[in-house]
Amino acid sequence: MAASPTEAGLLRFLTCGSVDDGKSTLIGRLLYDFLQVYEDQLSALVKDSLRHGTTGEEVDLALLVDGLEAEREQGITIDVAYRYFATPRRSFIVADTPGHEQYTRNMATGASHSDLAVILVDARKGLLTQTRRHATICSLLGLRHIILAVNKIDLVGFDEATFSRIVADFAAFCSNLGFTSLTAIPVSARHGDNVTRRSDHSPWYSGLTLIEALEQADVEADRAAKPFRFFVQWVNRPRDDFRGYSGTVNSGVIRTGEPIIVTASGRASRVHAIHGPDGELAVASAGDAITLTLEDEIDIARGALLSKPDQRPITADQFCANLVWLAEQPLLPNRDYLLRIGTLWLPARVTLIKHKLSFETHEHLAARRLEINEIGVANVSVSAPISFDVYDDNKETGAFILVDRFTHETAAAGMILHPLRRATNIHPEAALLEKSSRALMKGQKASCVWFTGLSASGKSTFAKELELMLHEAARHTMLLDGDNVRHGLNRDLGFTDADRVENIRRVGEVSKLMTEAGLIVLCSFISPFKAEREMVRGMFASGEFLEVFVDTGLEECIRRDPKGLYAKAIKGEIPNFTGVNSPYELPEKPDFRLTSNAAPEVAGEALRMRIRAQLKPLMEALISR
Ligand code: ADX
Repeated sequence: MAASPTEAGLLRFLTCGSVDDGKSTLIGRLLYDFLQVYEDQLSALVKDSLRHGTTGEEVDLALLVDGLEAEREQGITIDVAYRYFATPRRSFIVADTPGHEQYTRNMATGASHSDLAVILVDARKGLLTQTRRHATICSLLGLRHIILAVNKIDLVGFDEATFSRIVADFAAFCSNLGFTSLTAIPVSARHGDNVTRRSDHSPWYSGLTLIEALEQADVEADRAAKPFRFFVQWVNRPRDDFRGYSGTVNSGVIRTGEPIIVTASGRASRVHAIHGPDGELAVASAGDAITLTLEDEIDIARGALLSKPDQRPITADQFCANLVWLAEQPLLPNRDYLLRIGTLWLPARVTLIKHKLSFETHEHLAARRLEINEIGVANVSVSAPISFDVYDDNKETGAFILVDRFTHETAAAGMILHPLRRATNIHPEAALLEKSSRALMKGQKASCVWFTGLSASGKSTFAKELELMLHEAARHTMLLDGDNVRHGLNRDLGFTDADRVENIRRVGEVSKLMTEAGLIVLCSFISPFKAEREMVRGMFASGEFLEVFVDTGLEECIRRDPKGLYAKAIKGEIPNFTGVNSPYELPEKPDFRLTSNAAPEVAGEALRMRIRAQLKPLMEALISR
């Protein structure tokens, strides 16, 4: 079986435009005219359009597409809807993507599965910010063929000048977006002009109708012509004597007997057999769901990428990429996200935002963070080397997403531009002495005790007292405190969200080195964000890191206000002050919780005894190790 015959004439395209530009009506028109609408759907439609429709007594074609009840109620489309229709010349899958500003995510999803985009513009309104945004995202996602449908041309009296002006504006805007074809068509989706039939109302237009343009679009060579790529989705081991690797061929072609390699490890073997849904195959190509068996038993896990030895992808742990930011929470450099490429998931960070892109002018703007719907170029660092291709060479293996570790939301869609070779030729150097030996000589087990809590919650008081107790028990310690570290190592950092992430990352790395030296490290930092506390935990072996939440309420901290900072912050004199105008995310499962809400009359030695009593369980956990 070569490239599957059904794929040959198939065109996958998406429609995009602003709310009310008429996308759904346009798709409805295509479906309606090509009689892909089932009878019962049609009668339901007539009923529905009388109830919800915006077209009076006529059938509202948009309702054919806006399947979800919620959408109808709101009058906007809220998810990607894939529709299938066919003409005698070609079959089509169309992704109808929403036009509402907050739905860039779905638009990006639709674009990554399409070969061509139909961008709708309302003839009365011309280009909008959304139009520019969509054209830019289409370009980043590798779409090279664009049809500009200037819709509602009937509402401007089929005016040629209006059409020409919009086309000229759009062409000028797209001049550096790398589109190889741009076809502009004046249409009325509502009445069908120049959609499926040539309009009598626009004698000045002699170009293609929309359906002709779609039928004739010459999209690039299909995925089967690219090098073979196969992400292992799962290792299929029903019996001891059978080990197969299942997934969908991402690109290229594979035959039995051909050599393959596991890209990250370089291990090699040959294809023993290819199992398809209906039995064994001699050949499989892009889009086919298969299970491969190999001639040798080699170590292959879920997420591995298989290729041929002479057509290897790139392997690196850092790369530069275009990012479309999709999450409400802005992108913060050096925060940990989960990266998914193919079927592989692993921790990753954006180490540097190089610039963001203006949708209006395509200028590169300086940026320290990316907000929702913004697009930028950034360096990404992955926790281990991964295999990929540059997105322009292969959309399947050059695209990735970043996922928020806590909300599990897709935070970004990424397109790899090029690998970064920064850290090559640097290999970990193993010491002759084990880290446990250093601790053993000190008669202890190395640990990191991390105190988190509001400013003035009592973190430092507890940490200092604990250090003294450990010292009395002849343990070797080191104390790191926010206020002190910020005078030296971190004197370049302030209190923006991004700077706090970096503050904690550096302190985490320093603490890790100190535990490697065999010390018990006590860290006292507000560390207001869960993500960074988890990041630091992740740097240590299990049990080595103890999170201690100093749980003093905000009101009590404000009452104490030893440095007068809360008073200033409340007056608006300190920006980003934790608890006042910057958030503190409560620890959910701290290893220890301490409270310091002692009555004011408890002071001096009595207070100290109280503090020591509270620290006792923690102290025991540290010295009994
Ligand atoms: S963290 O948020 O990045 O972990 P860190 O613990 O290093 O903060 O520093 C907190 C100390 O800096 C506070 O105890 C306080 O003395 C001082 N400080 C100055 N400005 C701020 C601010 N905007 N927010 C919090 N603490 C501040």
